[in-house]
Amino acid sequence: MSLETVIVLDFGAQYSQLIARRVRELGVYCEILPYDTPWSRLVELAPSALILSGGPESTLDPSSPDLDPQILQSGLPILGICYGMQLVARHLGAQLVKLEHREYGPAMLALVGGASPFLAGVPDDSRVWMSHGDSVIRLPAGFTTLASTPRCQVAAMGDAARRIFGVQFHPEVAHTTFGRQILRNFLREIAGLQAQWKMESFVERAVAQIREQVGGAGVICALSGGVDSAVAATLVARAIGEQLTCIFVDHGLLRAGEAQGVVEAFRDQLHLNLVVVDAQARFLSKLAGIDDPERKRIVIGHEFIAVFEEEAAKIAGVGYLVQGTLYPDVIESKTPQSKAGHKIKSHHNVGGLPEQMEFALIEPLRLLFKDEVRVLGRVLGLPDHIVERQPFPGPGLAVRIIGDITQERIEVVRAADAIVRQEIERARLDPKPWQYFAVLTPVRSVGVMGDGRTYGNLVAVRAITSEDGMTADWARLPHELLETISTRIVNEVPGVNRVAYDITSKPPSTVEWE
Ligand code: XMP
Repeated sequence: MSLETVIVLDFGAQYSQLIARRVRELGVYCEILPYDTPWSRLVELAPSALILSGGPESTLDPSSPDLDPQILQSGLPILGICYGMQLVARHLGAQLVKLEHREYGPAMLALVGGASPFLAGVPDDSRVWMSHGDSVIRLPAGFTTLASTPRCQVAAMGDAARRIFGVQFHPEVAHTTFGRQILRNFLREIAGLQAQWKMESFVERAVAQIREQVGGAGVICALSGGVDSAVAATLVARAIGEQLTCIFVDHGLLRAGEAQGVVEAFRDQLHLNLVVVDAQARFLSKLAGIDDPERKRIVIGHEFIAVFEEEAAKIAGVGYLVQGTLYPDVIESKTPQSKAGHKIKSHHNVGGLPEQMEFALIEPLRLLFKDEVRVLGRVLGLPDHIVERQPFPGPGLAVRIIGDITQERIEVVRAADAIVRQEIERARLDPKPWQYFAVLTPVRSVGVMGDGRTYGNLVAVRAITSEDGMTADWARLPHELLETISTRIVNEVPGVNRVAYDITSKPPSTVEWE
């Protein structure tokens, strides 16, 4: 059976990625392409159905992104969402108007006319989410109105014979109560898809593609300990086995047990070809005397690339480099509207791309979302400590040691961090904080231990809740848990006599202290 594929044509919507995720969750493989992708390219992908996304423009403006008319003549099932619906309507001869007041937010859906399979299972008066400035006021020939809201006469429309449907609201967002049902109806009832896509099917296809791409060449991959590079390497190894060499640069700034965890998982359990480079002393000497956060990041990034290149040069016949690039990066880098904001921190992904290297890239995760990467990791047999790993900055503990980095200070923050992790994990909080760690501050303060005065280090504990790290709130950890963490750190980590809990959100703070 050929792969059922749905293509989302992106007209600049905020929600295109969400549409693709929903479609995949419903068991149909889905890709997002720019709205002006040539028809010939779409034909090559042999889509089973098309979804036209929303977008920020108005179809009444002649310069706004337009639809290739061949799409509507293709006979494919089509769902237009918001701007996508208006484009369909306009092309097929409907009348649209600009609303005096744009409509944002919730609205109640009233079903119109007889039952349509498109809205099967959607009750009258369910909530939908609106965000539009234009409205269809006269339908194109062949279409009927399927639902309205108090402020939007044509909230859903369809031409069952041509299998073309449109919704003015956003079925992909969680605020539309029956949105998932509507998308499911479109895929299964209207487009007649089997919806049997699952991660195992992805593995089969990816393995075949990697074999074809690589042929007999050698491939290298930098393992960082993080989820993405781990899953990418394991997938490539599934395809080409011994032809892949993974390089793990131990820069000495990983958390307790992490370096051993990588070696155990990849060498001992998965039997990957693994080169471990102990570069701890080298990084430490390069970082000596540097206390500026940006400098730390830059030094670590450069050094990482230098070590990686040296190791890669020792391996003969290498033609390819594996990268754990994910779908959101692929999409974002293609969107011209996305302007880089102010640089807050230069996020340097250790395990990232040495730009000057002359290898072709293999990016086996470039069509997956983060949560799908975790599912894939499990399907490939990666252990939980890798698949469930919380986000960890590429420069590692270096940005959690405020001020100078010395071996001694690395050990202090590593020991404190291990306690924070152990205790938070043991507490089985629900919901679990998104990220939690210890920071070693340069502050020293007076304490009393036994009967003596101490003048020791201040460790800060940070635990946050977040969706994606872009914004965050401090986690309201139970006081008893904070007490256990504090007592253990002061008792078990030499040189620390005081613990503070960070109660700032992002913004105005950032997640990491540096
Ligand atoms: P900030 O501190 O910018 O962190 O609020 C947001 C998220 O990004 C992680 N982070 C990094 N990740 N390289 C990375 O790969 C970096 O240099 C880096 N700095 C911060 C941070 O842990 C949090 O999850």
